[in-house]
Amino acid sequence: QDIRRRIGEYTIETKEQLEDFRLNYIGKKGVVAGLFDLLKTVPAEDRRAMGQELNGLKDLAQQKFQEAQEKLEAAGGSRIEPETDLTLPVIPNETGSLHPLSLVRQRIIEIFERLGFNISDGPEIEEDWYNFTALNFPENHPAREMQDTFFIEKHGPGKDILLRTHTSGVQVRLMESQKPPLRSIMPGRVYRNEAISARAHCFFHQIEGLYVDENVSFKDLKDTLYQFAKELFGPEVQVRFRPSYFPFTEPSAEMDISCEMHREGGCRICGGSQNQCKGTGWVEILGSGMVDPNVLENCGIDSKKYTGFAFGMGIERIANLKYRVRDLRLYSENDVRFLRQFEGA
Ligand code: PHE
Repeated sequence: QDIRRRIGEYTIETKEQLEDFRLNYIGKKGVVAGLFDLLKTVPAEDRRAMGQELNGLKDLAQQKFQEAQEKLEAAGGSRIEPETDLTLPVIPNETGSLHPLSLVRQRIIEIFERLGFNISDGPEIEEDWYNFTALNFPENHPAREMQDTFFIEKHGPGKDILLRTHTSGVQVRLMESQKPPLRSIMPGRVYRNEAISARAHCFFHQIEGLYVDENVSFKDLKDTLYQFAKELFGPEVQVRFRPSYFPFTEPSAEMDISCEMHREGGCRICGGSQNQCKGTGWVEILGSGMVDPNVLENCGIDSKKYTGFAFGMGIERIANLKYRVRDLRLYSENDVRFLRQFEGA
């Protein structure tokens, strides 16, 4: 039995191995021949059965030798490629996982969809009108400079083609093409000409929102955004609004959420390092305001009949808070050591 198994398992892939096999199992000094010699010593009554057994071994060895020889010849005489073992388990495929920015974007979209907002999209290569002029950025207004625009084609005042610096242009496109009531959010990538560092990048992602209808008030804005913050950061979160300025909203406000730096065990929001809140206990998460009547009129909406609010936030900023990421560059470097940490998140 043992010899049978050894013959079966003998690897013959080369000429040398074939010759070794022949010497070991077929040749006059081989194992099988040796057993035949022993046959004389076996008691007469067992000899017949033993002889049959040994002949079987001899045939097996012969057959294996012949097959290997044919295969070797077929393969050009030098080497047989080992056969693929189809019964082996497959090497598992790495399926990857969602990018942290996708996770956060999806979560934000989900919250606003439940509040009745739909999703709008627009181009990243944008006309001056949509990125600036319609949004009440006057010619030579310093706010244009503040946006560090990448220009693609210069065609003179109000006519340039550029990479959008915010997703607010999608709001203009929406208001131009549809009649109120409008309730929509606009996720997308935006570009600004800034030196790349841990805290700034030449592109990042925003989600803006717009709600235009009759009698939309600042209270609606606060209610909606407070609701959003509670959904995203938990029911205990507090918010505060600070007066701010954007050319396309009046009044304008920035919204902060409370940081838990005094909580025992550290802050779940800014990681207790006071990095994000700078020790104030508050972290800014978005800009907002009532749509300036000029903007409504620019888009063909009657500003006597309709009012609206708008808001915009950076997805990276929120992802930084949720996952305590300290370097913006991680989001676009595709380092698997970073990305793997979001598997199953
Ligand atoms: N577009 C603004 C920005 O990029 C954000 C914003 C949107 C502010 C809507 C107010 C209202 O900073």
